[in-house]
Amino acid sequence: MPKITFIEHNGAEHTVDAEVGTSVMETAMRNDVAGIVAECGGGCTCATCLVHVDDKWYPVVGQPSDDEAYMIDGAFEITSTSRLACQITVTDELDGLVVRTPAYQGR
Ligand code: FES
Repeated sequence: MPKITFIEHNGAEHTVDAEVGTSVMETAMRNDVAGIVAECGGGCTCATCLVHVDDKWYPVVGQPSDDEAYMIDGAFEITSTSRLACQITVTDELDGLVVRTPAYQGR
């Protein structure tokens, strides 16, 4: 089972098991990771599941779709590796993934 590490803005780290086929957002919610709100439940319409993918992992995770990029543009505290966690599907390739949560989720 792949493991994902979430790092909160205050530095707190959570390394959790992730089920292949679910999303990074669902993984965070199932494991009570702070900093992910996910108001729309994964519909790509709220941008409150924003994460910053570790630089090393961004090429593996890949770039957002046009719809996702539009939502990210309006989010708070974005970086060049920001993604919406609900739009990242867990695969075996993502074992060891590191993402950071922002200080605030919102648009
Ligand atoms: S949960 Fe709403 S955009 Fe990801």
